[in-house]
Amino acid sequence: MTAPLGSDPAATMDEGNVYRPRDADAHPPYRHPAYGSTALRAPSLPPVAIGQTLSEITGPGRLPGAEGDDADLTRNARAGGEAQGERIVVSGRVLDEGGRPVPDTLVEIWQTNAAGRYRHPADGHDAPLDPNFSGEGRTRTDGEGRYRFVTVKPGAYPWGNHHNAWRPAHIHFSLFGPAWATRLVTQMYFPGDPLLALDPILEAVPGDEARARLVAVFSLDVTEPGRALGYEWDIVLRGRFETPALG
Ligand SMILES: [Fe+2]
Repeated sequence: MTAPLGSDPAATMDEGNVYRPRDADAHPPYRHPAYGSTALRAPSLPPVAIGQTLSEITGPGRLPGAEGDDADLTRNARAGGEAQGERIVVSGRVLDEGGRPVPDTLVEIWQTNAAGRYRHPADGHDAPLDPNFSGEGRTRTDGEGRYRFVTVKPGAYPWGNHHNAWRPAHIHFSLFGPAWATRLVTQMYFPGDPLLALDPILEAVPGDEARARLVAVFSLDVTEPGRALGYEWDIVLRGRFETPALG
C-alpha cells in the first residue's frame, strides 16, 4: 500500500508504527498540579499504547467545512459590521513529521474577543461582548500547507486556577491532518506577553524549546500596511519537532 503523507518511510504497518510515537517529552503531562483542573481529568492509570491500524492512519479523510470564507473573523456577514480590536493576520504552514507540507487540511480556531471574553454561555468574565465577533474561524491549507486567518488580537482573561490568575492572549487551534493519528488540539501564544511566564498551561509543556514552538513570531512580511499586524506560526503534526498539544 502507499504510505500516507506524514508517514515514516522507515516504518511499515507490519511494525504497528506507521507514524512515529508521540514524543512524550514535548507534551504536557495529563496531570499537572499547577494546572488545577488536570487533577479532575487525568487518567489514574498509565495509558496503554495501541497499534496504528488502518483506522488511525487513513481516517477520517477529507472533512467538510471551510468551503466558504470563514478565515476572516473581523467581518461577520450575519452581523453586518466589523469586529472591534487590533486587527491581526495569523498565517503559517502545517507540516508533517518529515517537514513536508500538509495540503488541503482543515484548520479551525476559536478565541476571545479583544476584551478577553468568549462568546459562550459558560464565560462569566465581566467584559463586553462584541456583536460583530463570533470568535470562530476555519480554513483549509493550500497546496503548500499554508493557512491564513484575519482576526483581532484576543484579550487576556482571568480564570479561577489560583489567586489573580490571568491567561495570556492565545488562539485555540484544532487540526486533523491526514489521519486520526495526527489529530492535534493546541493553543498559539503571542511573543513578548508578560503573562507567558505565569501561565500554568504553557508552563506544563516540558522545556523552553518545546514551549517556544507554541509562540508565534511577529512578521513584517505578513503585516498588511495600514491594516493589520502579522504573525507567523507553523504547526508540525508528529515527529521530532511536533507542536505540543494543549487542551
Ligand atoms: Fe482559552
